[in-house]
Amino acid sequence: MAARNHILGVATCLPDNIVTNDDLSECMDTSHEWIEQRTGICERRHIAEDCGGTDLGKVAAEKALEDAGLTIEDIDLLIYATLSPDLEWPATACLMAAKLGAPPMPALDVRNQCSGFVYALATADTWLKSGRGKHVLIVGGEIHSTGLDLTTRGREVSVIFGDAAAAVVVGPSPDGEKGILSTHLHADGKFAEKLWMEVPSSRRSPNVMVEDFEGEDPSGYPRMAGRYVFKHAVTRFPEVIRESLAANGYGVEDLDLLVPHQANLRINQFVGAELKLDEARVVNNMQKYGNTTAASIPLALREALDDGRAKEGGLFCLAAFGAGFTWAAALVRW
Ligand code: UT7
Repeated sequence: MAARNHILGVATCLPDNIVTNDDLSECMDTSHEWIEQRTGICERRHIAEDCGGTDLGKVAAEKALEDAGLTIEDIDLLIYATLSPDLEWPATACLMAAKLGAPPMPALDVRNQCSGFVYALATADTWLKSGRGKHVLIVGGEIHSTGLDLTTRGREVSVIFGDAAAAVVVGPSPDGEKGILSTHLHADGKFAEKLWMEVPSSRRSPNVMVEDFEGEDPSGYPRMAGRYVFKHAVTRFPEVIRESLAANGYGVEDLDLLVPHQANLRINQFVGAELKLDEARVVNNMQKYGNTTAASIPLALREALDDGRAKEGGLFCLAAFGAGFTWAAALVRW
């Protein structure tokens, strides 16, 4: 069996600018009470000045490398996970590598939205097990705020999202015991239009129209059938978490910490109740940052490491559900 890989460094970068629910109620018909009751979210970060996800990603990546005791020269593959690429193309990973002053190396994007981080982790683990290198840098970076419909029309989606970046370094387990035990990836594209952004789209001609961003046509903004997504999320999360535990001969009682994607506190509470996990075993921080998509899981993991909930030797499940639909889990012995 190929040697085990571990997460050797974790770091984050958040914009300073805090946007409260009351701030949002100034530009759309919403309220702190509605947002907090339905989602648990109280505030999120929005960049104050134009920048790309790679600008936040650079800070997170450099700190993650430092946390791992490595430099960019030690990295053999860079993966950038995002819903909000700096440019439509080329791959944001190429831009990220250039910003980090990386020597020429393979660089690729993972565009699996809220499941993007776990998909990237699975790609890194499998790539390393195939013997193609020693270390992979994963950056999850999102600038949502510049692409949201911050009017009443877009309120269902726009109150949830926040900007952030987080990065991890994956490499050989220090002792052969710690590390990624297994990863589990799923997708079902028949639900694509339940959570999506339609343009820019090569299936339309012309591909982007000014009207898409103004007036009546909302297709240039993210759209979501909220209740529908919610129902699928609370089914798929427990399913994939149980799948990851069973694949390694464990049950829910063995799990020390669930680090789920941070879309909605009610979803995570539902999942915790379904799995009979007490609150202390489920990491939630969307109250402060909202849904930061590809950055959300490493952002929550870093917080749990810092506040002592994520303990050495613990069994952690990193799990996600999102657009696609996609859902995924990674089981890690820390
Ligand atoms: O990260 C990717 C995965 N995404 C998710 O997992 C999100 C899943 N879905 C959700 O989190 C929830 O469905 C939402 C938070 C998006 C919405 O909560 P909900 O409890 O499902 O509300 P709803 O969509 O059923 O809407 C209830 C009411 C509607 O008004 P009417 O039709 O009852 O008059 C909405 O128009 O709340 C209204 N509404 C709002 N009111 C104030 C929707 N958004 C807002 C808002 N502020 N921001």
